[in-house]
This record gives sequence, structure tokens and C-alpha cells, in this order.
Amino acid sequence: MAVRKLKKDIYSVGGIDWDRRLFDELIPLPEGTTYNSYLINGGKKTALIDTVDPRTEEELIVNLNKLKIKKIDYLISNHAEQDHSGTIPVIIDLYPEAKVVTNEKCKNMLIDLLHIPDKKFKVIRDKEKLSLGNKTLEFIITPWVHWPETMVTYLKEDKILFSCDFFGSHYASSDLFIEKEEIELMNAKRYYAEIMMPFRSQIKRNLKKLEDYEINIIAPSHGAVYQNPELIINAYKKWTGDDVTNEVIIPYVSMHGSTKKMVDYLYNVLVERGIKTTPFNLLETDTGSLAISLVNTATVILATPTILTGPHPNVVYAAVLLNALRPKTKYISIIGSYGWGGKTIEVLKSLISNLKVELIEPYLSKGYPNKKDFKALDKLADEILKRHKKLDLI
Ligand code: FEO
Repeated sequence: MAVRKLKKDIYSVGGIDWDRRLFDELIPLPEGTTYNSYLINGGKKTALIDTVDPRTEEELIVNLNKLKIKKIDYLISNHAEQDHSGTIPVIIDLYPEAKVVTNEKCKNMLIDLLHIPDKKFKVIRDKEKLSLGNKTLEFIITPWVHWPETMVTYLKEDKILFSCDFFGSHYASSDLFIEKEEIELMNAKRYYAEIMMPFRSQIKRNLKKLEDYEINIIAPSHGAVYQNPELIINAYKKWTGDDVTNEVIIPYVSMHGSTKKMVDYLYNVLVERGIKTTPFNLLETDTGSLAISLVNTATVILATPTILTGPHPNVVYAAVLLNALRPKTKYISIIGSYGWGGKTIEVLKSLISNLKVELIEPYLSKGYPNKKDFKALDKLADEILKRHKKLDLI
């Protein structure tokens, strides 16, 4: 990515990864991503905020050369994950005077992950300041966004928050600033759902901590820069808040049509009761779309056939993902079908033990569903309606 000027003496110098389609070998990146790195010239000292994934290290080096940077005094590491830290060893080789500035936890992780020598570090504490001459950096430790060592850096004079993963989005674009807010918010919501959602309560605490700072610009390390920080801060407040929506999602798999018939029936009777309902065929759904739908949804129904003695492996995967992402979902149930027996319900229940949810009585049909089974699904829809009403969602 070319050098782009953020403000006087502040440049975006990172890399753009148009082709990456999977992150952590798990998270789909339909729009690619960026690894943003920012160069600040403070008159007396020069600082580089985060580096880039090694996949794009050449772009960072070319950009620093284009700006004719001869010396970097401080290399700020907000987060030890390699998509931001992976090029630190190359930069400290090229700029041997550079000190890696970070907190104690991050330092230890960088030593473990990248074998950076101890003597290269300058360790800072929460809210410590560092003068670059006519610009001052303040480091704000924001644990668990989404690793234990994460911090953000505030540039006092320009009121810019360099937030690293916090408020980021996986979206490859040559735009420095956000052009289309709706698209950006959807990408940021996907990012939140896939990466930040398990740490909802810690993120809430960190949002509160940031209220002490006047922020005019948020410059994350993935995606575009926010000139209207309220846009993403308010979205984060909504996503991390306790409110859920009058929605049911039904992640499902069907082998011979029995479970699909039940999903279709339940979908219709829920919609008739005024509840927004979305089925997700797990053989076709991208996990990011499923994760986004979990951010505010009140109720999840897992729907599966019984294969051999338990749930279909794709439904097992969805349950494990749900358990890991820990959404604020209030209610869960299980529906599906079986031919001769099995432990489908027990297995799925055991896979979602992290979730603080009420389990509404599951129901499996023996073979293709009949009148009795549809009656059971009517009852399930009534139970969901009753609970959504209790929460004033309807
Ligand atoms: Fe963008 Fe947690 O790394």
C-alpha cells in the first residue's frame, strides 16, 4: 500500500493483503485485510506504531524508504500477535537504534513468539507518556482486546487513538478514511463477532476507560481510519451491551430432509408469532455470517440429524464455535431427527457448557416428522415467544 498522509507528520505506511481469504486458518476474510502501521515524526523523535504481517513486510520497508526515514527511535507494539508484530525483527535489524516500546506482558510474549532480545525493549506502564518532541504518546493498557497484553496508543496533540485490533475490520481498500459507513460497520461487526465477542465484558470495561480521552480520530491496525469515532464507539457499545433482539437463528444440517422439514416448520411458526427468524444451512453458510448473527440474537436453535450415535459433525462444529464465541444469547434449544437412537442431545449439551443460557426443552423426531412432531414444534415456538415477551422484546 502506498504511503498515505493521515495528518501533518503522521503517515499510514502499512501493507494491504487483497488475496488473504483466511485468518488464523479459521476466520474467513471475504474482503481481504490490511495491516496498518503508522509513522509519527515528533520533531525530536520518530515512532512507528505497530508493524505488519510478514506477508507484506516489503511494503512497509518500501514506504519507510520513500519517506526517507533514516532513524526510528521507538517502535510501539500495541499487540504481540504476528500480523502486527511479525515484522518487528526486520525493522529492528534495519533501524538498530529503535527501542520496542510496550508493556511487560507484551514484551514477554514478543520474546516468546519472535525471540526479540530483552535489551531491545523499553517497558511502559498503564497511562505512561512518551515525548517525541512536539508530539506526546500515551499508552493505555486495554487487556483482552483480544489477547491479555493488548494496549492502545493515544497521540495527545492530535487526539488520535491508535487502537490496533480494537475497532478494526478486515477490509482491503486503498481508502485511508472510511468512505461508506454502512459497509464499514458491517465489516467491523463481522470482525467484532469473530474476534472480540468472547471478551465482551472486558471490552466494555476498556470502552469505559477510553471515555477519559478526547478522541478525534481512531486509526486501527486493520481497515480504514475513523474521522467520526462516535460511529464505531457507539456500535461497540451496542454490540457489547446486554440487550438482545427479538430474533431466532437456526443453524442446521439435514441429511434426508427430516430435519429440514422441522426447520422450515419452526421457521414459519416463529415468524407467525412475530419473531424474526433466520435459518443457516451449515453446509453453505460462511462462519462469519453465522458469527455476525450471534452478536445480538436472543435465541439459537441447533438443528441436526443423528448420524451414527450423535449430531452431524457440522453441527458439532457450530456448537463448538458458539461455545467459543460466547455470545449474549439468552436461550438455546435443539431440534432434529433420528432413525433408531443415539445421544445427540447429550452430546450437543456438553459442547455448549460455557454459555450462560437457558436451555428450552429440546425435541427430536423419530424419522420424518408427523403431526405429533409439528405439535411439539408449535409448543417450542410458544415457549420462545413467552421468553421473548418476558424480556420485552415483543
Ligand atoms: Fe490483528 Fe490480534 O491481531
